[in-house]
Amino acid sequence: MAKTKPDPAGPRHVAIIMDGNGRWAQARGRPRLFGHHAGARRVREIVEACPDLGVEYLTIFAFSTENWKRTQTEVAGLMTLFRRYIMKEMQAFVRENVRVRFIGDRPRLDAKLHGLMDEAEAMTAHCTGMNLTIALNYGGRDEVSRATQRLARDVAAGKLRPEDVDEETLPRYLDTCVVPDPDLVIRTSGEARISNFLLWQSAYAEYEFIDTLWPDFTREIFADVLKQYGARDRRFGAVSA
Ligand code: FPP
Repeated sequence: MAKTKPDPAGPRHVAIIMDGNGRWAQARGRPRLFGHHAGARRVREIVEACPDLGVEYLTIFAFSTENWKRTQTEVAGLMTLFRRYIMKEMQAFVRENVRVRFIGDRPRLDAKLHGLMDEAEAMTAHCTGMNLTIALNYGGRDEVSRATQRLARDVAAGKLRPEDVDEETLPRYLDTCVVPDPDLVIRTSGEARISNFLLWQSAYAEYEFIDTLWPDFTREIFADVLKQYGARDRRFGAVSA
């Protein structure tokens, strides 16, 4: 496929709520996990498209702190999929110079998955190309609560004064402390809500709600969404020049 010239006005950081796997599978009379597997293949395509499209950071919502409420079969199937995905993709990430990070509450995940996540982060720590952040057992409120606990510990230990806690200090305690805020948040499948995703970080993000179900979200659709972003006037609370 021909390389697309990156749009200088395009978003540097795109975050995606990959929704619609279940409905995609259901429409084909298949179990929900069939949709999640198709969704995983789409992740590869979108990650590969990022450098050509000028996207430096991609954050994807793979499993939320609320997703444990799904059936045991679906949760177990997703955990197996995540383990296999990391094992399979690790070498490709290194080859493609993709730095991988995970955000979310790790201790609740099983030790094997947890270990693979640590390994993927360590193996790609030297990569300087695209930055892929996978949100796994992630919830925005949970992240802010955990950050506040760490911050409170520092205050109690005398490392930080309460009056020094501000909009610059607090994000340093978030899981995303080394990643810039998203410029654009995309949600697929026609739902228009943010479902506890990057609550602090997306304060000034643009949103795009796309009808396409995640397993049908192609590189071409992605490129179109980024083009539309280029036409937006981001004012960050100020007025246009
Ligand atoms: C939401 O669709 C999707 C999820 C909860 C799982 C997201 C997981 C993937 C895309 C699989 C692969 C990801 C990685 C990183 C390997 P849904 O199940 O809520 O769909 P529905 O709204 O149609 O039921």
